[in-house]
Amino acid sequence: MNILFASSEAVPLAKTGGLADVAGALPKALGKYGADVRVILPKYEEIPLHYAEQFELIAEFQVSFGWRNQYCGLHKGTIDGVTYYLIDNEFYFKRRGLYGYGDDAERFVFYCFAVMEAARFMDFRPHIVHCHDWQAGLIPFLLRTRYAFDPAWAYAKSVFTVHNLMYQGLFSMDLLKELTGAGDDLFGWDGLSHRGGASCMKAALEFADKLTTVSPTYAHEIQTAYYGEQLDAVLRYRCEDLRGIVNGIDTELFDPMNDSALHSPYRNSIGRKRKNKLDLQRELGLPESADIPMIGIVSRLVEQKGFDLIAAILDELLQEDVQLVVLGAGERKYEELFEEAARNYPDKAAIWLGYSDRMARRIYAGSDIFAMPSKFEPCGLSQLLALRYRSVPVVRETGGLRDTVQAFNENTGEGNGFSFANYNAHDFLYSIRRALDFYREEEVWKRIVENGARSDYSWNVSAKAYMDVYAELTAHRKENEPWPVIL
Ligand code: ADP
Ligand code: GLC
Repeated sequence: MNILFASSEAVPLAKTGGLADVAGALPKALGKYGADVRVILPKYEEIPLHYAEQFELIAEFQVSFGWRNQYCGLHKGTIDGVTYYLIDNEFYFKRRGLYGYGDDAERFVFYCFAVMEAARFMDFRPHIVHCHDWQAGLIPFLLRTRYAFDPAWAYAKSVFTVHNLMYQGLFSMDLLKELTGAGDDLFGWDGLSHRGGASCMKAALEFADKLTTVSPTYAHEIQTAYYGEQLDAVLRYRCEDLRGIVNGIDTELFDPMNDSALHSPYRNSIGRKRKNKLDLQRELGLPESADIPMIGIVSRLVEQKGFDLIAAILDELLQEDVQLVVLGAGERKYEELFEEAARNYPDKAAIWLGYSDRMARRIYAGSDIFAMPSKFEPCGLSQLLALRYRSVPVVRETGGLRDTVQAFNENTGEGNGFSFANYNAHDFLYSIRRALDFYREEEVWKRIVENGARSDYSWNVSAKAYMDVYAELTAHRKENEPWPVIL
């Protein structure tokens, strides 16, 4: 089965968050089930040179969308056994960072049209185009409209995965009409029209053959008004086609036994893990002690991740005998919150602003407790990475956090973390305090860490679930029937 992944980011080429981890790791896991999965993304300026050099130009063509007509170069390369295609247009993508430009609508509408055109120039006919988040949202729409009878896409089906319903690719109706060149009939309430404008995410929710999201709990949540971001009605309408499949992590890429960011490799020895804590304390200028419990946070600094809860109890938390280490970038108000904490409590709090893969790994390894009190969390990979690095997660019971972290029960000895249900700062603080209490009971702590170590957060099970979704879409095909070759 040939699957084309359309994702605006993928490890190791470009990353802002968990989407990149998924688009990097899932193709490899699907490969083990016999699928040929290739990934197509924009050729950003920030793709590291040593990877960019491994690509060759395989085609050049024009992409017309609306009244525009733009150059597109198609590059192909293989990294770690996965074939990637890059969409090249320097005007759109030779810029710093991935998103956040005034013309993001135009950039990603171009990307979607370019993907549709690129299929003509690949030695690969996608049976399924698997699109991720709003940046690729127009692809399922184009497949059913402008490209419905295009031989390059004959027999192809689409899957759309919601990684985060909050980012909807919402633009003015006039702009999306102009960019797509699609008729008014496609912009009604049952079309792209949304919140007074038009949405690329909604286009996908309506036109994709199958929908998935990244955890079973989030799949339920987004059908309710509270989590539905005003798209809950569409999701309820499509609930038969919607599945929640929990993310995994690349356990080879993230392995405390084999991680060049760490000086002391470890697997199950808490003693050896704590050497990494000492190392991190040294680097961040915190008092060196293997015994002080260290709470880690690695996150985009945005409201979603529960920073308002943290803000409300930060002073109280820092009265405890703890250290808090935060790595993040995002909204200025949250950066200031932690900068101030580090100034007021120099022996207890350290903040590293910005994006650093190395520092992230050192915090997963150095911390004893990992805090993630998200307001909502489609899946969350950070808590899985924390478990992999034997840091005990304290999370709010929402989305994928609810599906991957089980609260420790001192009566049964079961559970790999701590959790609370309501979005309430003192419920969060109470859970942290519970974790701190058990941290001081060495045997109990060991048990909690071991419970976490036993969980399987690799992609094996979830990749099979995606294969089932693909199989449902191609079920009409007879066993061993060759795929049609269209010239
Ligand atoms: P989201 O995709 O919503 O940001 P996830 O938990 O799914 O949340 O994935 C976040 C990913 O990004 C993880 O791999 C995490 O380690 C990484 N990450 C987040 N912030 C940073 C940062 N400042 N520096 C390095 N890695 C980060
Ligand atoms: C989104 C979500 C996060 C999820 C990631 C990968 O960024 O916020 O919860 O883990 O996508 O699916």
